[in-house]
Amino acid sequence: MAATGNEQRGASAYYVSTPIYYVNDAPHLGHAYTTVAGDVLTRWHRQRGEKVWFLTGTDEHGQKIMRTAEANGVTPQEWCDKLVEEAWKPLWEHLEIANDDFIRTTQKRHTDRVQEFVQDLYDKGEIYQGGYEGPYCVGCEEYKTPGELLDGEGEFAGQKLCPIHKKPVEMLKEENYFFKLSEYGPRLLEHYEKNPGFIQPESARNEVVNFVRQGLQDLSISRSTFDWGVPVPWDSGHVIYVWVDALLNYATAVGYGSDQAKFEETWPASVHLVGKDILRFHAVIWPAMLMANGLPLPGKIAANGWLMVGGEKMSKSNLTGIKPQDLTSHFGVDAYRWYFLRAIAFGQDGSFSWEDFSARYTSELANDFGNLASRVAAMVGKYFGGTLPEATAHSEAEQAVADGLAKAVAEADAKIGEELDFAGGIAAVFDFIKQVNGYLTEQEPWKVAKDTADAAQARLATILYTAAEALRGMAVLLAPVMPATCEKLWISLGAEPHIGPLSVQRVQEAGTWGILPAGTTVTKGDVLFPRLEEPAKG
Ligand code: ME8
Ligand code: MG
Repeated sequence: MAATGNEQRGASAYYVSTPIYYVNDAPHLGHAYTTVAGDVLTRWHRQRGEKVWFLTGTDEHGQKIMRTAEANGVTPQEWCDKLVEEAWKPLWEHLEIANDDFIRTTQKRHTDRVQEFVQDLYDKGEIYQGGYEGPYCVGCEEYKTPGELLDGEGEFAGQKLCPIHKKPVEMLKEENYFFKLSEYGPRLLEHYEKNPGFIQPESARNEVVNFVRQGLQDLSISRSTFDWGVPVPWDSGHVIYVWVDALLNYATAVGYGSDQAKFEETWPASVHLVGKDILRFHAVIWPAMLMANGLPLPGKIAANGWLMVGGEKMSKSNLTGIKPQDLTSHFGVDAYRWYFLRAIAFGQDGSFSWEDFSARYTSELANDFGNLASRVAAMVGKYFGGTLPEATAHSEAEQAVADGLAKAVAEADAKIGEELDFAGGIAAVFDFIKQVNGYLTEQEPWKVAKDTADAAQARLATILYTAAEALRGMAVLLAPVMPATCEKLWISLGAEPHIGPLSVQRVQEAGTWGILPAGTTVTKGDVLFPRLEEPAKG
């Protein structure tokens, strides 16, 4: 089993964060990808009965936001307020994101603590005054090294471009404050060495290790040419570099410096989910900042790959033209949550296509899963008046289904809960769904039903009980991914009055056979995955 990073954590809560996103524009598929992954991960741990804390939020300072606000003729704060309330929070609600908190870096609970943290580093001698000149990418909010820049072509001929944003960098020259990042290389390398699960996936870990081995430069942590940021406490002519400000959200949101009890039960984070574009900030700068301040390090930095469009990273300036809402209105919210985690190996880049989504929706969700649920409910209705019968003729075929469920539970729990292999964990559940469909095809309950002999009726009861009990397991395992659909299934199985709500079903027990008691009232509710409408041709 992969190291979780939890071994050396003393804290009791399973704490997951997403990046806090820039609010220069509305969220797109890429932001939703990381956030849904975080939501599934935390719901999985809740389903295990663990105490969980899930944080998301927005990154509101810096030049990028300031320029966007200026271009729109409003103040940066007005711009941020509008985007957060009208675009970001509504999308997370729409996607059923169950975050426990939403931090905004313009909140006082954050800015006060950022000042204290930076002041503390200054007092400890970790910060000094110096000068710097270099190429800067406003898209990344980062100084670049000349070696990583690309040569511009066409409209950018003769200019140097950021390798991520493919836009010209600007030469910046500033007198500012520096954090002694260069001194932390050896301690960081030692930490990576001792904690193999600290950076995931392996390719991301290797990239970071190679980068740190080449030697780190000190980090410029203040800006004096604009003022949209947190003032440096000892020099009001400077604001704190937006990345130092932003990274600290993970600590300030859980009570760093303000609520010691909350902080102690939550810190350090179990997993910081990030895209690989911001891996170095999280795997190099952030742990060095924490080391300098004497705080424990997070358990894991997990980098997701990029959703690609036309061979490039999907970004605000380079979209598919498809918004998350365009997909959810066609496929539904739950199918949306499921699709990206199911279709793309977490950590790898992946392309999205409407055709692939449609094909998987129809074959896996509607045919394999949805039809199974409705067929079983229909047969319990038709042959047993809607009361789940008892299984008195459990044979080898039924045992194989019971074993299949136990295996699906173990695999899904290891893959989703520990390894963050969402595609692998979901595949384990869908393999089980296929197995149960195969079982019904072989057992042919609709034929057995025609025989009125007692033995045949006992077989029929056993077959339908087995299929319903298998559906009980599927509902528990898929609830973190497709909460509303699994809730419907739970109602259709009539489970709640007997064994309680879906939310109290524990992953650890989901593979135990026979939890759903005979006698529940099974009803054929709404179709779980309705047939897709023809997409509008644009
Ligand atoms: O970087 N594929 O914010 P941001 C997959 N404010 N994930 C993607 C993606 C894509 N094409 N596009 C975006 C920032 N993402 C900083 C973070 S954290 C202290 C500060 C996701 O708005 C992915 O998680 O540019 C990526 O890292 C993040 O959005 C970047 O969002
Ligand atoms: Mg970005």
